[in-house]
Amino acid sequence: MSEGSRFPGFHRLDLEQRRQLVAARTGIRLERLTGALTSGGLSAEAADKVVENVLGVYGLPFGLVLNLRLNGRDRLAPMVVEEPSVIAAASNAAKMVRAAGGFHARMLDELMVSQVQLFDVPEPAGAVARLEAAQAELLALAASAVPGLCERGGGPRELEIRVLGEGYLVVHVLVDCRDAMGANLVNGVAEAIGPRAAELAGGKLGLRILSNLADRRRVHVSCRVRAEELTRGSGQSPSGLDVIDAIAQASRFAELDPYRAATHNKGIMNGVDAVVLATGNDFRAVEAGAHAYAARSGHYAPLAVWRRDGDALVGVLELPLALGVVGGTLRVHPLAQLALELGEVGSASDLAMLAAAVGLASNLAALRALATEGIQRGHMGLHARSVATAAGAQGAEVEAVAAALRETGTVTLEEARRQLTLLRER
Ligand code: MEV
Repeated sequence: MSEGSRFPGFHRLDLEQRRQLVAARTGIRLERLTGALTSGGLSAEAADKVVENVLGVYGLPFGLVLNLRLNGRDRLAPMVVEEPSVIAAASNAAKMVRAAGGFHARMLDELMVSQVQLFDVPEPAGAVARLEAAQAELLALAASAVPGLCERGGGPRELEIRVLGEGYLVVHVLVDCRDAMGANLVNGVAEAIGPRAAELAGGKLGLRILSNLADRRRVHVSCRVRAEELTRGSGQSPSGLDVIDAIAQASRFAELDPYRAATHNKGIMNGVDAVVLATGNDFRAVEAGAHAYAARSGHYAPLAVWRRDGDALVGVLELPLALGVVGGTLRVHPLAQLALELGEVGSASDLAMLAAAVGLASNLAALRALATEGIQRGHMGLHARSVATAAGAQGAEVEAVAAALRETGTVTLEEARRQLTLLRER
């Protein structure tokens, strides 16, 4: 994206103007953008081929995170989310971060875990030795189940054997799925090696399935925020350094308390899931993996932590992200495909890094709000428009009623109905 991810005043434009601007900047044809975005991308007929008992399709808002800079490059991040303020907050945090260079991300590993459960293994130590000695044979068997993946440069890479006790043993095949999320590939691998693994172990064959604790496909993202960015436009008090200290204390709170860690992580997943959904990926898999990873030490912990470094704030997020940019929903959902184009996503790993950067931005925005004015003011301010719509406001009435709600500070359906009646009586 040659002109960057900055679109000052974007939120004040109408839908048509926003689409025109994005089409001009990304080179995506306006008709294509408008077509996919007005239809929601998926027809009821197409949906009928995707799942069962279909009655129709279900719409959700599709928006863009602006101001994002990742690994030295400006990016737009597509988001699908129903919660007001999530997109604005992530864009705002991305703006603070870009002033100090943006987000830096890398994959720590790019392997999926395929599990084969063996049970009633009479002598686990001997079984482990035999399985280890047969590593080459088992990997070759695994590779024969995914010839297309091997041709694309991926495939089974390593074997791991874990003794679980009570005669249970599990064989992991670590598979490089390239640009696919890989669930079907990995399940195929587990099924291919299962019978031979059971034979070698002298036990019985149990489940053969991927693990959603994709801890060998982790992404690491970090950022730095200067003190002055945290208070820009909000006057002198509290100072930027006070906000940094308050965010670092909020991080420690989450590190010490699983009740807070769950909410802290929810704030991260607000950003991650929205990108995952927009790009047609499996958010349940991502959620399962993220929370299992957060509890890996036996103590449920925050996925991102924040510390003060001199007069700057530093944040680091690490989580498993098994995403794909080929196959699955992407084959049938033109809007998911378009989302990848809007994000200029080059690979599955690139998408994981983008989603993680949006997650860290969302976390920063939430912590900054909580550490300063509290979350409700901004949240309810942005929620006002949907409350006005729910009260029956139409067209220009929506903004007028929302403005009145913000002014009164009472963002409720009752107040919205009252304001709408007053407006119509005027
Ligand atoms: C709301 O969707 C997310 C927050 O609760 C996250 C947090 O508390 O850090 C604001």
